[in-house]
Amino acid sequence: MAKQRFGKQCERPESEQGDVNTTPVRQRYWERNLSGEARSWFEEDARYFLHQSLSTPVLNVIARARGIYIEDLAGRKYVDMHGNGVHNTGFNHPEVVQAVRRQLDESLTFCPRRYTNIPAVRLAKKLAEIAPGELCRTLFCPGGTDAIEMALKLAKLVTGRFKTISFWDSFHGAGFGASGVGGEEHFHGGIGPLVPGAFHVEFPNYYRNPWGFTNSDDVDAECLRQIELVLRREPEMAAVIGEPVSANPVVPSKRYWEGVRDLCRRYGALLICDEIIEGFGRTGKMFASDHYLTPDILVLGKSLGGGIVPLAGIVTREEYNTCGDRSIGHYTHEKNALAAAAGLAAIEVIEKENLCDHAARLGAHALERLQEMADRHPLIGCVMGIGLHIGIDLVRDRKTKEKATREAEMILFKCMENGVAFKTIDGNIITLRPALVITEQQMDAALDVIEGAIGEVERGLNY
Ligand SMILES: Cc1ncc(COP(=O)(O)O)c(C=O)c1O
Repeated sequence: MAKQRFGKQCERPESEQGDVNTTPVRQRYWERNLSGEARSWFEEDARYFLHQSLSTPVLNVIARARGIYIEDLAGRKYVDMHGNGVHNTGFNHPEVVQAVRRQLDESLTFCPRRYTNIPAVRLAKKLAEIAPGELCRTLFCPGGTDAIEMALKLAKLVTGRFKTISFWDSFHGAGFGASGVGGEEHFHGGIGPLVPGAFHVEFPNYYRNPWGFTNSDDVDAECLRQIELVLRREPEMAAVIGEPVSANPVVPSKRYWEGVRDLCRRYGALLICDEIIEGFGRTGKMFASDHYLTPDILVLGKSLGGGIVPLAGIVTREEYNTCGDRSIGHYTHEKNALAAAAGLAAIEVIEKENLCDHAARLGAHALERLQEMADRHPLIGCVMGIGLHIGIDLVRDRKTKEKATREAEMILFKCMENGVAFKTIDGNIITLRPALVITEQQMDAALDVIEGAIGEVERGLNY
């Protein structure tokens, strides 16, 4: 890592964010896979962008993103099992592209603040129809971080309090407020105090938890006890904020989330669900909250813009429409007509193509196949997930659960050379979040590639 002239040397982020962009294995991937043209753009990218961890140097140079695939400059296609969470309808879905084109042709793409426009109103109305329970009031903004911060602001204004509880290891965005409630040191280190009153607790993890519990009831009980401890010792809590299913992905029990909601009610805190990744069919229902409960504020992003235009937002209850004399998210792109047209078209595609049911069915099939794989491969410690939000926790030893971090990285690059791209998280967890339009045949083929790579690494065929 390059020496820094000022400030403290940063820690490598591998344990939190997964695939790291500076390892020798990645170096090997570049040497083996970057064509001459790609290499020159890669170098220009490194020359002109301000470097930050996890972004530069890049993995490869992309020429196209279409359907379930990304394609590099050499024309190699990869089933993109990450897609940064924007590709629920597939990249460049023809109907979303058409909606964007139509909006461009109508010469209404931007809408100055203090005006409104029909696509933005239609999208807000659609969200009121499909959001869980009685959630019906929307505010839009350009990115997920902003949406999280709008949710936090709203919760603070509504309750007249400022403290929050969120989860260690969670990611809610890179802004000050969002990284303050996020649980990764990587995002808060080195920049001094963030937002005061941000408390963190453990997310229920049934496979890996600090207490060594193997019974999920014990994990739930301890995690709820921790939340209640904070609520009692730090009175005046504004909100509890978390993803219904964590990014790794651990799927908590319904009992757990109902317990959190009951605690929120008892102590007067709002419950905010970050569904920036999980919304819009990812977990097999339109929203992950639909598996559990109705939050007080739902935060959306990523696929909300149809994978084409940046768009995020919050949806909340009628009773919280009480801050009309404050600006919660006074964003320039608050009612961007182009983004709204894309978002509306994407939701219509999800409904028309039954992508929620498809994700539920195909996710169950993939999990079953992965469970069978686990019988054949000792490297697989645990398979988790719901819908098309799946994780494979790789271990060197099933008893000690030592993380197979190096192995996970080698599997990643072996898979990429065979046309399957994904992201590892926590260093050793392969996460699979393909476009929801992926077919069973395509998913099976991708799982075959992953199994092949796992088998090779188990046999000592390193990358
Ligand atoms: C769960 C979650 N929340 C919030 C964010 C922040 O979204 P954005 O990158 O659009 O600011 C992300 C982004 O990865 C996310 O995964």
